[in-house]
Amino acid sequence: MAHSEISRRKFLQYTVLGSLASAFPGLNKAENRLINKEPDKNFRPDVELELYAQNAEVPILPGAHTHVYQYSGKLLKGPAHTVKTIPGYLGPILNFERGQKVRIFFYNRIAEPVITHWHGLHVPQKMDGHPMYEIFNGERFVYEFEIDNPAATYWYHSHTHEMTATQVYQGLAGLITVRDAAEQKLELPTDEYEIPLIIQDRTFTRGNQLQYLHGRHRRMMGFLGDTILINGQANATFPVKSRAYRLRLLNGSNSRIYKLGWDDGTPLTVIGTDGGLLEAPETFPYVMLAPAERVELWMDFSGREKGSELTLQSLGYKGGGARMGRMGGMRGGLPQGKSFPIAKFSVKERVGESHQLPKKLVPIRQLSAKDLTSPDRTVPIEIGMRHMLFQLNDQTFGMYDHQNIERIPVNTIQKIRIFHEGRMSGSGRGGGMGGPRGMGMMGMMLSLPHPIHLHGQQFQILSRKQNESSSDYETVKDGFIHNGWKDTVLVMPGEDIEIIKPFEDYTGLYLYHCHNLEHEDLGMMRNFDVY
Ligand code: C2O
Ligand code: CU
Repeated sequence: MAHSEISRRKFLQYTVLGSLASAFPGLNKAENRLINKEPDKNFRPDVELELYAQNAEVPILPGAHTHVYQYSGKLLKGPAHTVKTIPGYLGPILNFERGQKVRIFFYNRIAEPVITHWHGLHVPQKMDGHPMYEIFNGERFVYEFEIDNPAATYWYHSHTHEMTATQVYQGLAGLITVRDAAEQKLELPTDEYEIPLIIQDRTFTRGNQLQYLHGRHRRMMGFLGDTILINGQANATFPVKSRAYRLRLLNGSNSRIYKLGWDDGTPLTVIGTDGGLLEAPETFPYVMLAPAERVELWMDFSGREKGSELTLQSLGYKGGGARMGRMGGMRGGLPQGKSFPIAKFSVKERVGESHQLPKKLVPIRQLSAKDLTSPDRTVPIEIGMRHMLFQLNDQTFGMYDHQNIERIPVNTIQKIRIFHEGRMSGSGRGGGMGGPRGMGMMGMMLSLPHPIHLHGQQFQILSRKQNESSSDYETVKDGFIHNGWKDTVLVMPGEDIEIIKPFEDYTGLYLYHCHNLEHEDLGMMRNFDVY
């Protein structure tokens, strides 16, 4: 479809649906698109930058350059390290400090609508990158918000209506770090001893161009590429010294779930999750990292000989989706059931000193059942499938759908139950369709895990229950982190997960959705209306 036709279609959609939206509290017409074309004179930014979504040709593999979409950034005001451009196709790393007031002039220079979401940050609704605010080529959106999150690793990516998967795939993503005083006191490894690892899988044509999948059934299975890229580079190797490092991992893949482990069996020392550092480090034999999740690792190479190598791998697992390699991948490379390397660390220099792992990290505001505003109320998020589409609470996404929307009073703390029965949803759908998962494509779809992401504030996990005893589940269950702040949680088939989440400060529409981006674009997304 030509760009002008897309614009016309969107324009009609906004005009027609805009009036519907005005009848609906929390989505009034005045709040419709482009309201933030201009900066607010009363907002005094500490940091100001420009961010462009643009076309680029970048070297990724040897030979021809690859055409990508890319965020590029330019610092207008603030500390020089705020915008750190990295090689490859990903956007610059944005380094913020808690309490900073940030203004971002976002420009769309590609021939598709785009909007940018600050994944994990707690910002006012208008600043959250909801797809209803997407802007067209040549337009700009001015973001203004205060960094109100604890020190952790966050990220930003496009969140365009039904185009998030293809746009992120083509490159519209980047990392955000937030630092704060509590973290500073710990003196964690920093500068060259702090390594971001943005993990993505891609498939390339023989001419080095990005290849994506087509067709609804394939997209339902999700995209699995055959080449692992770290920070936009293939065959990533990091030269290290024999000392401690802080690794900031982000799974920036569309669908692929990693089971991360060191190849020599060294346990993983986790110091942080999606939305903050833990109270104390915890060790895991392996960590499951689903799309959009982050984990921060402490990795101490001290005592290792010069020349020694250690590889971070994705280990094979049998949980749902593990059989999907063939279906989702182009050439069937890298099925989830097999191990493959993620990144290699090679000790180049022996050094004497090393940081000690702190025994305690940061205090956390621990939420428990007694903090709930209405202890008897549970907000359900039920994962289901109907008409060969994944659904949340029996619905697929509608931009201005004001039916069956979950309304949540502002400044409350809610219990949310995320339930993945792994069966067909709806009642009375007999004939095997409503029964337990079987074989074949339908069975595989039903047994897919879903990383559920909630916009707004970070949440904590109250409980995690598996209703089916399966040997598949045994191969993943020790890799789930229960403590700390999360904004995305991987829900395996048969799981019943209770989380506790504050809805503080801001009203309006906040999305929750599957962060398997293919699923998200196919409508596995809903709004909370915080009023
Ligand atoms: Cu990372 Cu709604 O997104
Ligand atoms: Cu999903």
